Formats: sequence, C-alpha cells, structure tokens
Amino acid sequence: MSNTNIQQIIEKIFQLENQLKEDQYTKEQIQNFFSYHHYDVFILIYEPKTILKILQNHTWNIINNQKDILLPFDVIGYALFFKNDSEQLLELHKIVIDSKFRGRGLAFDFLSQILNDYKKLNYRKIFLEVSEQNLPAINLYKKLNFKIIQVRKKYYQNNIDAFVMTLDI
Ligand SMILES: CC(C)(COP(=O)(O)OP(=O)(O)OC[C@H]1O[C@@H](n2cnc3c(N)ncnc32)[C@H](O)[C@@H]1OP(=O)(O)O)[C@@H](O)C(=O)NCCC(=O)NCCS
Repeated sequence: MSNTNIQQIIEKIFQLENQLKEDQYTKEQIQNFFSYHHYDVFILIYEPKTILKILQNHTWNIINNQKDILLPFDVIGYALFFKNDSEQLLELHKIVIDSKFRGRGLAFDFLSQILNDYKKLNYRKIFLEVSEQNLPAINLYKKLNFKIIQVRKKYYQNNIDAFVMTLDI
C-alpha cells in the first residue's frame, strides 16, 4: 500500500471520528497509531465485506476473505487495539461503525473476527473501558461475553463512571 493509500485511510478514519460526540482523535494521533508497533488498526470495508489489518510497513493482512482488495474501497468502520506483547494482553481503545451502517450486526461480526485472529496469535485476554452511558457499546461487549470487572468512579468528564470490562479469548 502506498503512502497515499494510507493517507486516504487516515482521512476515512478521521471522518468516522468526526461522527463522535466526544474523545475524537486528531489526524496526528491517527497517524501515530500507524507508526507505533504496539498499536493495531483494523478497518472494515463495505464491498466486498472485508477486514484488513494494517501492518506497520503499510501493507495489510486480509483476515476474513481470500479475495484481493482493489483500491479504492469503502471504509465503513475501524477498530484500534493496543498490544502488550510481553503478556499477550490486548486493550480495545476504539471501535467505530459509520452511523449509516449501525444496527446491522457489523460491529459484532467485525470484533468477533478480529478476536478470532488474535486468538490464533496466542493473545489471552482483552480489556476495555467504556462509559456507563454508552449503552450500544456496553451491550455489544456483553453480547461478545465481556464481563464488567471494575467501576471507575467519575472517570470521564461530567463525573461519568467508566466500566472496565474483560474477556478471555
Ligand atoms: C457501538 C457501535 C460500534 C455498535 O456498532 P453496530 O454495528 O451498530 O453494532 P451491532 O449492530 O453489531 O450490534 C451488536 C449488539 O450491540 C448492541 N447494540 C448495538 N446498537 C445498539 C443500540 N443503539 N442500543 C442498544 N444496544 C445496541 C446490541 O446488543 C446488539 O445486539 P442485538 O442486535 O442482538 O441486539 C456503534 O454504535 C458506534 O460506532 N458507536 C459510536 C462509537 C462508540 O461509541 N464506540 C464504542 C466505544 S469506543
């Protein structure tokens, strides 16, 4: 993938971030996720429905499809993971599905397939933090069998609590 293509993907992720009400990443932050080896960025392509894991050298692995992917493609979601490789632990920092495509099971499918991919790489456990007010996300994680293990009181702005959730994979 050329640098131009990576820039297009960064632009798409930035557009997805712009749909969020809070905690939006800047373009610079998104750029950095592609540079640090402890981050993995996955993107969800609409047609044909495909998940790409973007690698540090800006190539990609296709994790759910045998077909080659031709550019340009339509990015409709992304997920950002932080990896602790020494302990084989993961943190899910962000998952966003384009608002036009929500409520069709895409996030569930996307995360299920990513977790399956990590399992093959011998990762053991995944953690995340979520606002107590983000019901779509909490329900999504519960459907994936995540359990709440801790409540961080007044963790977010406006004294909103955070749930710490975890899943053994
Ligand atoms: C959270 C988010 C990723 C869910 O994406 P999605 O593709 O719409 O989710 P799915 O269609 O796969 O839904 C899976 C499950 O999540 C839950 N869910 C999804 N949307 C929901 C809603 N609006 N209200 C309540 N529960 C919801 C349900 O349990 C659903 O299972 P069900 O359809 O059997 O009821 C999406 O709403 C989003 O991008 N939100 C903005 C970003 C965000 O808050 N990300 C999470 C924190 S980083």
